[in-house]
Amino acid sequence: MTPQENTKQRKAEHVKIVLEEDVQGKGITTGFEDYRFLHQALPDIDFDSISLSTNFLNRDTNTPLLISSMTGGTQETGEINRILATAAQARGWTLALGSMRVAIENPETHSTFQMRSYAPDIPILVNLGAIQLNRGLDSDHCRQIVEIAEADGLILHLNSMQEAFQPSGDTNFAGLLHKIEAVCNTLQIPIGVKEVGWGIHGEIAKQLYHCGVHFIDVAGAGGTSWSQVESFRSTPILKNAAKAFLDWGIPTADCIVDIRNKAPKGTLIASGGLKNGVDVAKSIALGADLAGFGRYLLDDAVNNPAKLIEKMEQVELELKLAMFGVGVNSIQALQQTSIHKIK
Ligand SMILES: Cc1cc2nc3c(=O)[nH]c(=O)nc-3n(C[C@H](O)[C@H](O)[C@H](O)COP(=O)(O)O)c2cc1C
Repeated sequence: MTPQENTKQRKAEHVKIVLEEDVQGKGITTGFEDYRFLHQALPDIDFDSISLSTNFLNRDTNTPLLISSMTGGTQETGEINRILATAAQARGWTLALGSMRVAIENPETHSTFQMRSYAPDIPILVNLGAIQLNRGLDSDHCRQIVEIAEADGLILHLNSMQEAFQPSGDTNFAGLLHKIEAVCNTLQIPIGVKEVGWGIHGEIAKQLYHCGVHFIDVAGAGGTSWSQVESFRSTPILKNAAKAFLDWGIPTADCIVDIRNKAPKGTLIASGGLKNGVDVAKSIALGADLAGFGRYLLDDAVNNPAKLIEKMEQVELELKLAMFGVGVNSIQALQQTSIHKIK
């Protein structure tokens, strides 16, 4: 198999494994269950006045919600992107596309990432593994994928442990911070950095913001475990080793708190294991600006697109209900709301 075919096949396998196998981290949670709002029995607002609207990357959006980077590159995953894009446009969510390394290697896959006609009004983000900056890709490639997808910004993902659990993964992460900085300095578009499910702590976030990164998506632990995903397509020894890493990573809530302590100002996305609108409300009260959902949405995107929209509406409703419960009617006010740790 050529390296290009390999990249395509890997994505198809990831989607299949995530849909069919148990890839949830074990012995670790998002940490949101440790936080509780102070319920307001007398909220001084009308439920109907609650607005979820916000602004991200200079676009006004109906919600502070995001579909996390997942797919693209094959006919099937292109179809998933179309379904996600259509739903994101309908509900006013931000759409993040899966890694576009495959699009750089295979021009015929471009259409599987070209979602602007399905989602003309929402922010669209393209995605690339930051490790590719150590493997010959540079700012020009980053610009190229932004143009292909007519995107508003680029996310570079940090997936060191995922690569380490792949039999021939790219594991030379040395010196990447400076390469990320060079991309930020060269391109005139917003660059974000995310993990893939093990989280980013405050010190790293501070360094990344300092290098010119516009936003960070913590992609913390408590949801999909990528050592677990890779274990289903790895060597016996790596598969066994993956069992020791089921509880690896920084819980999503801890990432948000730590980043807000060390970097109070940068734009921050909470994701990793989010399951409902109350998790979103807690994320925002802890300091996030947006909140993202990955695997939670994938099954319906593949098997039941009508249900996907319902699920997204439900998240929005839960978020509004939580805001009513604490007596705030805007995302800005929710960010000022106090929330306390119960454990
Ligand atoms: C099928 C699938 C494919 C993914 N592909 C990518 C990717 O290409 N780039 C990336 O940065 N993250 C990728 N992710 C990681 C997600 O964006 C997200 O960070 C991670 O799954 C944790 O969030 P969750 O617990 O809500 O799923 C993928 C996740 C899934 C489920």
